[in-house]
Amino acid sequence: MNHRTTDVREQGFSDHVLVCTNARDSEYACCADAGGQAVLARVKDWLRERDVFWSQVRVAETSCLGLCSAEGTAVTIHPRSHWYSDVRPEEVPDLLRREFGSEATRLGVGPEPAIEPSSMN
Ligand code: FES
Repeated sequence: MNHRTTDVREQGFSDHVLVCTNARDSEYACCADAGGQAVLARVKDWLRERDVFWSQVRVAETSCLGLCSAEGTAVTIHPRSHWYSDVRPEEVPDLLRREFGSEATRLGVGPEPAIEPSSMN
C-alpha cells in the first residue's frame, strides 16, 4: 500500500464528482435506465470545456448512491458533500455552474451549502 495523499494534492486535485450509472435487473429504478451515461458525459464535457477535468476535478462513475429514481441520475460532489437525485442530462450545466461557478473557479470548498435547496425546485 502507498499513501499518495500528498502526491494527489500537489497535482492540484480539489474536487470529485461521482455519477451513478448503476444498472439492476429488477423492478426497481436505477440510474443506468435514467440517463446515467448521458449525465456522466455531460459532466465530463462541461469540465473539459473549462480545462479542469482530471487536473483539478476528477469524475468517477459509481454504483448505487442510494438515491435511485426513474426520473434521473444520482450525482454527488465531494469534499463539499452535496447530493442530487433525478438529474437529467440537460440539467448538468446548471448544476455544475451553481456548484463550481460559471468558469469552474470555485473549487475545493468545504461542505457548507452552496445552493439554497429551494432554488433547485
Ligand atoms: S441506482 Fe443510482 S442511486 Fe441507486
